[in-house]
Amino acid sequence: MAMTHSPGRYLTKAIDRTANALRGLWYRHIYLSWVQFGRTITFAGPIRCAGVTGSIRIGDRVFLGPNISLAVAEGGSLVIGRDVSVNQGSILSARLSVTVGDGTRIGDHCSIRDSDHRIEAGRTLLESGFQAQAVKIGRNVWIGRQVTVLPGVTIGDDAIIGAHSLVNTDIPARALAFGTPARVQRVLA
Ligand SMILES: CC(C)(COP(=O)(O)OP(=O)(O)OC[C@H]1O[C@@H](n2cnc3c(N)ncnc32)[C@H](O)[C@@H]1OP(=O)(O)O)[C@@H](O)C(=O)NCCC(=O)NCCS
Repeated sequence: MAMTHSPGRYLTKAIDRTANALRGLWYRHIYLSWVQFGRTITFAGPIRCAGVTGSIRIGDRVFLGPNISLAVAEGGSLVIGRDVSVNQGSILSARLSVTVGDGTRIGDHCSIRDSDHRIEAGRTLLESGFQAQAVKIGRNVWIGRQVTVLPGVTIGDDAIIGAHSLVNTDIPARALAFGTPARVQRVLA
């Protein structure tokens, strides 16, 4: 019979809490000391934040899953509202501006980027550089796992984006959309 209150469970919980607290100290005060963090952030695992020179603001009670990546270029801004969760393996990348509204849930392995390689005839990708258009994700949006949001997209409040979607156009508030490319299937009551 399964023991619902086994010592192992308490130990696991205690180790997890301690690891989270230690990671919090590391990220808040050393590795990401220049990031504006709100209160009670959960750091569920390692965060990758290489070469960041832009600004990052993260609201209260945000959950940052393991192996997420935050990339913000010089002059860029990433704003994550309060009560947001960013699940494991997701990347948020801003050269200009990426904003995520309060209460939004971002599934595993999502890619939310505001820039692409510029494509120019006769020039290599390296020579052509990047072009950026702001990405805006509203409040209380549910983004399923493995969703890609392309530059320039706005997703309205309370929308739902189904798993594995490619979002390349704006999605209105309260819409449920999915597919590649994502299309509105219905509007939620
Ligand atoms: C979109 C979603 C919320 C369900 O929406 P729904 O309208 O209730 O969809 P249903 O389950 O009734 O399915 C309706 C149709 O859409 C299809 N469909 C549902 N989700 C789909 C998706 N993500 N991509 C493509 N088609 C999808 C179904 O196969 C079904 O097709 P059919 O009518 O030909 O059989 C759900 O499927 C989803 O993708 N959830 C995200 C899950 C996830 O990623 N969780 C982990 C991260 S939090």
